[in-house]
Amino acid sequence: MTSLWLDRPEPIADDVLPAGDVLDVVVVGAGITGLTTALLLARAGRRVAVVEARTVGAVTTGNTTGKVSLLQGTKLSRMRRFQSRRVLQSYVDGSHEGQQWLLRFCEDHDVPFQVRDAVTYASSPEQRSALQRELGVANEVGLDARLVDELDVPFPQFGAVVLSDQAQLDSMDVLSALVEQIRAHGGSVHQGHRVVGASRSGRPRLQLDDGAELLADHVVLATGSPILDRGLYFAKIEPLRSYALAFDVPAGALRAGMYLSAGEPSRSIRTAPGRYGQEHLVVGGNGHDVGRTRSELSHLDELRTWTARHFPGATETHAWSAQDYRSHDSFPYVGPMPRGGGRIFVATGLDKWGLTGGVAAARSISEEILGGLPSWQRAQRHRMSRPIGLARAAAINAEVGIAAIGAGVAAAVHAAPTTPPAEGKGVVGRRGVVPTGVSTVDGTTCSVVALCTHLGGPLTWNDAERSWDCPLHGSRFDPDGTVLEGPATKPLARRDEPGA
Ligand SMILES: Cc1cc2nc3c(=O)[nH]c(=O)nc-3n(C[C@H](O)[C@H](O)[C@H](O)COP(=O)(O)OP(=O)(O)OC[C@H]3O[C@@H](n4cnc5c(N)ncnc54)[C@H](O)[C@@H]3O)c2cc1C
Ligand code: FES
Repeated sequence: MTSLWLDRPEPIADDVLPAGDVLDVVVVGAGITGLTTALLLARAGRRVAVVEARTVGAVTTGNTTGKVSLLQGTKLSRMRRFQSRRVLQSYVDGSHEGQQWLLRFCEDHDVPFQVRDAVTYASSPEQRSALQRELGVANEVGLDARLVDELDVPFPQFGAVVLSDQAQLDSMDVLSALVEQIRAHGGSVHQGHRVVGASRSGRPRLQLDDGAELLADHVVLATGSPILDRGLYFAKIEPLRSYALAFDVPAGALRAGMYLSAGEPSRSIRTAPGRYGQEHLVVGGNGHDVGRTRSELSHLDELRTWTARHFPGATETHAWSAQDYRSHDSFPYVGPMPRGGGRIFVATGLDKWGLTGGVAAARSISEEILGGLPSWQRAQRHRMSRPIGLARAAAINAEVGIAAIGAGVAAAVHAAPTTPPAEGKGVVGRRGVVPTGVSTVDGTTCSVVALCTHLGGPLTWNDAERSWDCPLHGSRFDPDGTVLEGPATKPLARRDEPGA
């Protein structure tokens, strides 16, 4: 599945890998966080290389809904439950700085964006109380949000919180311009190289999957979920997958605005200018924990049904899905990684708001490498977990345990199929004692060991993306075992070779 933003004629070119040199900084991951960090450091005169396992934007940034907003659904009131007003204020200040930096970057480099109202709307009368809470907290941290009783939109709503002068864009336009600017400042970008390990002491030495090594004074892991287990981040963040569709619609089908429901099932709605002058409608939402649903396809189909009901005549052009990570208190983790000797930095837990939060993380990490720290980062860095936050952290781990047992039992009681599954299907069963995943995609049948290479989680089949997904910490693999995303760095072992 390809997003509206990733569907573009020209791929981004590669630079030659600087293996053997000592770099100032290696940034791992070419999404919004990694590329912004790299540019800030390159502009400061540092010698920077970005190493990307897949292609620029391939994982989350190229699959967003592209809203650059400080009103973030009901996130502010959720965060306020876990932390003080002061800590929340530091998040909003950082996000504001991230937003302003990004929009200034767009203006300076001819990246189009559209200024829009951000709207959190109640899709049922019960959600009105969530609006009141969000408004109260948004006003408390200085956002000029207001309540409206009714919206002029073709879907059911029961009032909304509105924040004017926010923005929307095409995330791949931004990433392309960032790559160009990194190169203009002497940095380089290398796609198709997965980092599989890092040395434990001294100057970090990164091992790549093709055997090459990179040596740098500092390393920034901007990989979504951190790929080193040193800070145990995988156990502190929840991988959340959600869905999006793009449609061709007549101009004016939706009053200009970026809409997000205040409750479940989540609906995210905006328009986007098409490349050929047409208007697109983007409808997203319907999320769940990675690997913990019966059918991913059914989540997309629900969005299709909803759109057909409220936007009759909309013609589907793109369908996609993606995941992001939420910490137990909904604040990001940004800064030096434990046991990284002050040389390895990490940014994770952006919770589906990385177009502001990822830029804020980049500002913070680059400043720290250069010897400073933004004032708003201090309050977040030293935040303590309240009992409610500790309870949420325990619940996340309990849910991981339940998911592991559920998927593990399913694999243990059935034998692996002896005939190829139907096209697009994947089935897990025992072959001997080994849980084996057998799938058929585009006419090719593959068998893999259905245990995640991160920490052995039992894999489940994703019928929308046609991938093997781990319900524990969100690693995902292609049918042939290639790593797609998540904390895993090693492919699944194949089971279809003779003797396997
Ligand atoms: C459906 C959806 C909609 C969203 N909509 C919005 C929105 O409207 N507004 C908003 O602000 N945010 C939104 N978000 C969130 C936002 O997209 C993310 O927070 C942000 O893109 C994360 O950026 P990143 O650079 O940290 O990660 P990514 O974009 O995922 O980049 C990480 C990169 O690291 C690479 N990588 C991973 N492991 C390795 C390795 N071992 N070696 C080398 N490279 C590696 C990956 O291949 C990937 O390209 C949305 C998220 C989702 C899922
Ligand atoms: S992602 Fe951790 S076990 Fe699979």
